[in-house]
Amino acid sequence: MKKKKILITGITGQDGSYLAEYLLSLGYEVHGIVRRVALEDPTHHFWRLQKVLDQLILHSGSLESFPTLFKIMREVQPDECYHLAAQSFVSVSFEDEFSMMQTNINGTHYLLAALKDACPECRLYFAGSSEMFGKAEETPQRETTRFHPRSVYGLTKVAGFELTRNYREAYNLFTCTGILFNHESPRRGYEFVTRKISSTAARIKLGMEKVMPLGNIEAKRDWGFAGEYVQMMHVMLQQDVPEDFVVGTGETHTVREFLEVVFGELNLNYQDYLVIEKNFYRPAEVDLLVADPQKAREKLGWKSKMNFEELALQMVRHDYDILKKGDDL
Ligand code: GDD
Repeated sequence: MKKKKILITGITGQDGSYLAEYLLSLGYEVHGIVRRVALEDPTHHFWRLQKVLDQLILHSGSLESFPTLFKIMREVQPDECYHLAAQSFVSVSFEDEFSMMQTNINGTHYLLAALKDACPECRLYFAGSSEMFGKAEETPQRETTRFHPRSVYGLTKVAGFELTRNYREAYNLFTCTGILFNHESPRRGYEFVTRKISSTAARIKLGMEKVMPLGNIEAKRDWGFAGEYVQMMHVMLQQDVPEDFVVGTGETHTVREFLEVVFGELNLNYQDYLVIEKNFYRPAEVDLLVADPQKAREKLGWKSKMNFEELALQMVRHDYDILKKGDDL
């Protein structure tokens, strides 16, 4: 039987790498779109893909170029496309709003247009975000909760969500959005708060760092394990009808609690190292996010397995073990 073909944008990121591994394990042919600079500097950009790099088919392309996306879509003719690429660090959206708007909104629009014209049978997953709920008007948040984004990043995800819905309705395409709450892992980027904490705590323990600088540690998030969440992306595209789903654990915790678990694991008291810095506060904060994943539970069989504490422990143990061996993170 012919192998199913997959195209992933953002394949070098945390989610892209877990998804690529998962889909290869299911026997798919996995293609990825990567920027030319990444192909020129593979050691730096492909560290998350090390295990599977030789099994992937990578195409040089940019979300900023419709002709390139169209050409790749036409040549590959994927059965499924996972659109994960985006500028995804919320803080940056306050510093460089225009570039984030450009990449995230136009990139999604170009990809949808390329799909429609070059391979309309392909099913598309769009990576939405709980940041779309922002100053949430109800708790927990579900598919019907009104969006109230608090950052340009959140706003670009709302735009992507609406574009994805509109292409589904206007052109009868199989396109859907996963509204994923925060999902972390040892492959998380260092700028995000969980990895910043796990890596800094490990460095402090080993005498390589003295302080833990942070912003608002009372913010509450619904944190799950990225390796599990990518499987839901795949399940969403196997449904009979395209629909949007919220995916999260249904539990919320503060940044402070994350600090407590991580530092506690290393027998340290985070209060001895914590330095609150105003520049890590955001001009508009999302105070509380927590998912109501009932729809995903009922229709997709979703159940989160790794709890908050296990997730935090997995991350800090990983970082500590690597640094202790003398390797760099
Ligand atoms: N990054 C960061 N750095 N965040 C901090 C810090 C700090 O020093 N101190 C406190 N925080 C707080 C932030 O203000 C925020 O409330 C919370 O920690 C989480 O921040 P991030 O880890 O940067 O993630 P995020 O919630 O803004 O966004 C992530 O999750 C979204 C899904 O809800 C990103 O992965 C997004 O791309 C994703 O869509």
